[in-house]
Amino acid sequence: MFDDIVIPKHLAIIMDGNGRWAKKRGELRINGHKEGMLVLKRTVESCKNMGVDYLTVYAFSTENWKRPKIEVAFLLKLLKYYINSELDYLKENKVALRFIGTRQGLDKKIVSMMEMIEKETSTGTEMVFSIAFNYGGRMEIADSFKEIAKLIQDGDIQIEDINEDLISNSLYTKNIPDPELIIRTSGEFRISNFLLWQSAYSEYYISDLLWPDFNEEELIKAFKIFSTRNRRFGGI
Ligand code: IPE
Ligand code: IPE
Ligand code: MG
Repeated sequence: MFDDIVIPKHLAIIMDGNGRWAKKRGELRINGHKEGMLVLKRTVESCKNMGVDYLTVYAFSTENWKRPKIEVAFLLKLLKYYINSELDYLKENKVALRFIGTRQGLDKKIVSMMEMIEKETSTGTEMVFSIAFNYGGRMEIADSFKEIAKLIQDGDIQIEDINEDLISNSLYTKNIPDPELIIRTSGEFRISNFLLWQSAYSEYYISDLLWPDFNEEELIKAFKIFSTRNRRFGGI
């Protein structure tokens, strides 16, 4: 069925536009997030069925704490709900869920739920699914500096050992290849602090659909367009 299209090994998605979707319907922003979560569940299923090996989604940025308290609280609640409601599905479908981002600033209950589902699904072989939650690309790079500085301080490595591979392997995404394709919904052309290091050679697909309107048809469209891109990586 998908013979003519190249499926990226690693797809990353900036799920944007939940608030505008709700506003357009005269609803509260939180309803957009609720609907967005349902679309995420369907997208995980589609990606798994189409043979995506790694899926990474941007769910909450380190900058999203600036939002009204009530919206932030709802997003945290939604994450807890998602973990509880998806545990069985992810296990049965052999999807390994992990979280990327900093755990600092998250309450203990959420952190223990994250650790629980990571552990429970860790043997999944069908797809590695990463949720970027409390994630910031700059924070990730700063954290990797700390990790590397510690190795030097402890005498485990020398300054001369610092190279691109070492940095890649000090990021939250260690063991995960760089994304070939990044989809951003809601028509915005910006990166918003997502996978700064990892996206050095990623292709972008900007969808005009708001995230709650995203669907499999649009996903296939993104893959088709990705298939036509000539990726040169600096060569000719
Ligand atoms: C994306 O939708 C979800 C999060 C950032 C948590 P938004 O909430 O950013 O929706 P818009 O961009 O305001 O429409
Ligand atoms: C990026 O969306 C973060 C997530 C999708 C989680 P934002 O809505 O926070 O980004 P900006 O503010 O438009 O750059
Ligand atoms: Mg937004």
